[in-house]
Amino acid sequence: MGIESSCDETAAAVVVGGRKILSSVVASQIDIHRKYGGVVPELASREHLRQIVPVVREAAEQAGVRLEDLDAIAVTQGPGLVGSLLVGITYGKTLAEALGKPLIAVNHLEGHIHAAFLEAHREGDEPKLPAVCLIVSGGHTVLYEMRAREENNSSAAKAATHKTEDPGSGGGTEGHTYKKLGQTRDDAAGEAYDKVAKLLGLGYPGGPILDRLAAAAGNVTAPVKFGPTKTRGNALDFSFSGLKTAVLYHVRERPEYNEEIAKREKALHEGHRKFEELLPLCSVQTLGLVREFQNAVVRDLVERTMTAAEQCGVGTVLVSGGVAANRQLRATFEERARDAKIKVFFPSPELSTDNAAMIAAAAYPRFVERRFADLRLNATASMPLG
Ligand code: KG4
Ligand code: ZN
Repeated sequence: MGIESSCDETAAAVVVGGRKILSSVVASQIDIHRKYGGVVPELASREHLRQIVPVVREAAEQAGVRLEDLDAIAVTQGPGLVGSLLVGITYGKTLAEALGKPLIAVNHLEGHIHAAFLEAHREGDEPKLPAVCLIVSGGHTVLYEMRAREENNSSAAKAATHKTEDPGSGGGTEGHTYKKLGQTRDDAAGEAYDKVAKLLGLGYPGGPILDRLAAAAGNVTAPVKFGPTKTRGNALDFSFSGLKTAVLYHVRERPEYNEEIAKREKALHEGHRKFEELLPLCSVQTLGLVREFQNAVVRDLVERTMTAAEQCGVGTVLVSGGVAANRQLRATFEERARDAKIKVFFPSPELSTDNAAMIAAAAYPRFVERRFADLRLNATASMPLG
């Protein structure tokens, strides 16, 4: 069983052999945080406390297993909000201790990467390693090179893909290593989506609504052009705060935006936050602006990831995290990857955002290797991978 509580989703899932999802239950807190325009840590911890027991029970029930039948309990150790993480960790420890099951600590970022493996498995596929992984969410925008651990020591490990032996069968993967290739210097891409949506009076979270508005914009002329972002030093680093500020200045300097922003804020206040309700309140100029913003984000994410894949000489790219649900991002990756003869994998939208199936999947190699945590396990707010 996987348990996830690093941010604003309380989640539990039962997964077999790191690949087959028997259940995946996610209780979202979006409605609680929406009116503040972002996650309020104190409210998040309290809500996790309320949700953790029913969510874990529901996950076991939907999977048709008793808690006693589980092989291990995996929990997110970090990165994330300490108060939120502690709820999942404390409950996970208690459950493991009470049931006499091993406890496994998982890095949330490694979880996001494994969501792509879960999805591929659903389609009867298995991503080949090594791979370049882009994790792009509200809290993270980071590029890794992922290898099967055995590959690092022996060139003979050509078939170093994930294996899916049953727990305890003796075989199985020796786990993975991760090398960070680049990361955002400032805002995460999802954070830029959320901030731009907020300043345009489009509510929270910003990604899903901007995604749909950009698609609705079609080929309207953009009122402004945003060039590719340059980051000095590491060419694989990202930066999104300049883009967000460029949108802010563009809007601030043009009073014609004020009236429609006020109208949308009023609509949101009255509970009309659906795409169909907000679209008629957006001028062509706003649609063009949203599309140009999204073009800039997508271009930077895709170009740097594909450059990384080419530099590392890998044939696989994995894209995960909340922003991986973006339709233009997916379509652009598919197109670029096809040209470059690279295979790109995405989780489905429900596995892209925070969930516990990905935590259970990432825990599996540790389960096979019997790398367990003990009761000293603590929340780690900033936790590097690799
Ligand atoms: O992975 P996630 O659920 O939580 C974090 O770990 O951050 O990601 C949430 C982020 C939010 O910033 C949200 O605006 C963004 O993912 N997001 C999207 C889309 N759906 C969610 N961004 C762009 N396009 C989308 N369709
Ligand atoms: Zn996440």
